[in-house]
Parts: sequence; C-alpha cells; structure tokens
Amino acid sequence: MFLNHFKMKAQPFAERVAPEAFWRDPRIDEGLARLRYLAHDATVGLLTGPSGVGKSALVQAFLNELSGPRWEVIYVHLTHLPSAGLLKLLVSRLDEPPRRGKDRLFRQILDRADRAEGTMVIVIDEAHLLDHDALTDLRLLVSSAVEAPPLKLLLVGQDPLRQTLRQSQHGALLSRMRVRYLLRPLEVSETASYIDFQLKYAGASHRLFDEEAKRMIHEYSGGMPRMINNLATASLIQAMAKDTDRVSEGVVSETVREFQCV
Ligand SMILES: Nc1ncnc2c1ncn2[C@@H]1O[C@H](COP(=O)(O)OP(=O)(O)OP(=O)(O)O)[C@@H](O)[C@H]1O
Ligand SMILES: [Mg+2]
Repeated sequence: MFLNHFKMKAQPFAERVAPEAFWRDPRIDEGLARLRYLAHDATVGLLTGPSGVGKSALVQAFLNELSGPRWEVIYVHLTHLPSAGLLKLLVSRLDEPPRRGKDRLFRQILDRADRAEGTMVIVIDEAHLLDHDALTDLRLLVSSAVEAPPLKLLLVGQDPLRQTLRQSQHGALLSRMRVRYLLRPLEVSETASYIDFQLKYAGASHRLFDEEAKRMIHEYSGGMPRMINNLATASLIQAMAKDTDRVSEGVVSETVREFQCV
C-alpha cells in the first residue's frame, strides 16, 4: 500500500517471514545452535518466550534446515485438543488413517518413526495450550525404557508452559528436556538494527525512520518483533497520509496513541 510512496521494492515488517526477510541476531544463533543439537544428539527440547517474540519464526528457520530424506518433520500448532485428538492429529499428519484407541495411536506413531527413512522430528507449537493428559502422552512417546525413542520432540510455547512443566506431575518430561531455550525480546539497539534490516530488505534507507522514532517504537513494543512490525507499519501509513517521506518521533507517537486505545 505504501510501497510506491516510499519507493520500496518489497513489503517490510511482514507477518509471514520469507527466508530472505528472516532477521538473525545472537539470540537467534543461540536458539538455532540448541535446536540443531536437539535434532542430532538429544530427544526432547523446549523453546519458550512471550507472545510475539519470534518463537515460530525461529522454528520455521530451523525446520527449513531439516529438508531432505534425512528428516521427517511433523509440525502442528492446533494444540487446543483433548489428548487423543492430538495423537490423531499427529497420525493424520503422517498421511495415515488414525486407528481407534490411544494405545493403537501410540503404536502407529512409533512404528512409523521406526520405519521412517530419516529421523522423525515432532514440533508442537502453541504447546502452552496442551492439557496435562496431552503432555503426559507426549512424554510416554519419548520414554521407552528399553530402546532409544525413534523420534525427537520439540515443545514451543509461551511462558506459562514453563510453569506447567514445573509441576511435579510433569517432572519426568521436564527432566528429559536436555535442550531448553528462552527467547528474549530485543534490546533497544537490537530493535533499531531490526528496523534497519527490514528497511534494507524493502530497498529503503535506514534513515526513513529517525533514531528517536526507532527508540520510541522500542519503548512501546518492549522489543517484541510482532509489535515492532505493527507500530512500524502503522507509522509508515501515517507518514504517507501526512505526505511526508520520513517517520519522525511525532508520527510514531500518533500511531502509538491509536494502539493504546484498544
Ligand atoms: N527473526 C525474525 N525475522 C523477521 N521477522 C521476525 C523474526 N522474529 C519475529 N518476526 C516477526 O514477528 C512476528 C511474530 O513472531 P512469531 O509469530 O514467531 O512470534 P511467537 O513468539 O511465535 O508468538 P506467539 O507466542 O504469539 O505464537 C512474526 O510474524 C514476524 O513478522
Ligand atoms: Mg508462535
């Protein structure tokens, strides 16, 4: 919409992150290092962080690395289901008709993982919405006493997931989580670099946003990329409406006011 006004060649601050628009910083590198370790040498991993911090974007970048016959990846985010429903969803993602009964569903997943040409990696996004039974069933999938589990499990969720896992009934699952990563929000200088990166990706100058404007976006977003995107986009629309080619602190404060109304 504002691409012509600012002479941009691609949409900055987009919700869906194209691989070329994926921003990497030390937080992301640390997260990827842990996820790679999980894929190669561990069994269960945990990735947590507040809403909009970039967990799903990080997982997507990780899964992009796991292409080819060495890996069989199942990614699900529709987790607000009773436990049997979750197991059925996993089976249907394997393109198999789910059998009746939880025990058969377990067997179906484990047999398929055994037969798979590559390593099966199950990623459950929005895992803070899983109920206690579902967490217990996922633990059973990866905890055979006699043989190494034929699959890897990654739980991705918002901060309440950590509190849930600390409850004693989930001790057996938590203790199996050799890989744990908490994705933190951006610092003020990182927010400015993130905005500059998005502008560069769009083919615009980093000077399009004043330094004070970037600082104000940081302050109101708390360094969460989703909120930075929302505020930056609203500021670009506002600057276009005012027929100016710069995003100043004043423009950002006008958009912040709108965001504070709801
Ligand atoms: N590394 C990144 N590079 C580019 N854009 C990013 C990055 N991280 C996050 N974003 C942007 O921020 C938005 C929110 O990120 P994401 O959906 O990954 O958050 P989340 O932590 O999974 O949030 P939720 O807990 O609500 O699902 C993304 O839609 C994307 O636009
Ligand atoms: Mg997410």
